[in-house]
Amino acid sequence: MAAQNKVAIVTGASAGIGKAAGMALIKAGWCVTFAARRADLLDKIVAEAGKDKALAVLTDVGKPESVKSLFARTKEKFGRLDLLFNNAGMGAPAVPLDELPYEKWQEVVDVNLNGMFLCTQEAFRLFKAQSPKGGRIINNGSISAHAPRPFSVAYSATKHAVTGLTKCIALDGRAHDIAGCQIDIGNAATEMTERMTKGVPQPNGTSMVEPRMNVQHVADAVVHMASLPLDANVLFMTVMATKMPFVGRG
Ligand SMILES: NC(=O)c1ccc[n+]([C@@H]2O[C@H](COP(=O)([O-])OP(=O)(O)OC[C@H]3O[C@@H](n4cnc5c(N)ncnc54)[C@H](OP(=O)(O)O)[C@@H]3O)[C@@H](O)[C@H]2O)c1
Repeated sequence: MAAQNKVAIVTGASAGIGKAAGMALIKAGWCVTFAARRADLLDKIVAEAGKDKALAVLTDVGKPESVKSLFARTKEKFGRLDLLFNNAGMGAPAVPLDELPYEKWQEVVDVNLNGMFLCTQEAFRLFKAQSPKGGRIINNGSISAHAPRPFSVAYSATKHAVTGLTKCIALDGRAHDIAGCQIDIGNAATEMTERMTKGVPQPNGTSMVEPRMNVQHVADAVVHMASLPLDANVLFMTVMATKMPFVGRG
């Protein structure tokens, strides 16, 4: 399907997967709003992508007013919305569960779960009101939406919750031509997974260097999911480094 004049919001778009997916959407002909907190990085991305097709909006997805402004600015510049890539996310330090400060837990829940919910609500409102109506929401889950790593309670609990959010979007969205789906990524080479090159804790108490894959594979998968017509949907997709420990209990 031609992506000319189709409009996407990508959260967490200043780096890593969000940046790669946003740029891949631009290449595929989309107009993209890049949302994150670091203005300097967003400005560079928009300069590279071109101001006709790209917009930077400083956004903290955990703050309702900030999210409202993200969607209002997007509608003002591009007139509508066809895709939300709910990508912004963070982890917490790998410490024993009982030692994780409540503030850290709350920070992760605010970004990984509350942020996705707030963006989803705003997207639903736009999708329902516009003509032609509808659109698609791709949530960024994780392999940790299926199986936790040691010492990852905040990250794993919120990523499991994302799966519930995705199913609710897919169900409640049906009546409004809204498609909800999820990409579950394993070990894409970004800042978040840099520590894997030095070794990360394994369930048997050892530490192991884990294989990673090029982030472009994730970006290409997002473009594929985004490019389907609204009457077709990749509900869940897992894109992972082939040899990472997941399938086969390790
Ligand atoms: N890399 C992987 O292998 C992997 C695997 C599974 C899932 N994921 C998921 O993929 C997503 C992106 O991860 P990544 O690897 O690209 O990580 P990353 O390189 O650390 O990038 C995270 C992005 O999220 C943004 N962000 C963080 N807090 C935010 C907030 N409150 N409001 C708005 N933006 C915020 C950051 O931008 P600012 O700091 O500028 O705000 C940054 O652009 C996350 O949801 C992560 O859980 C990644």
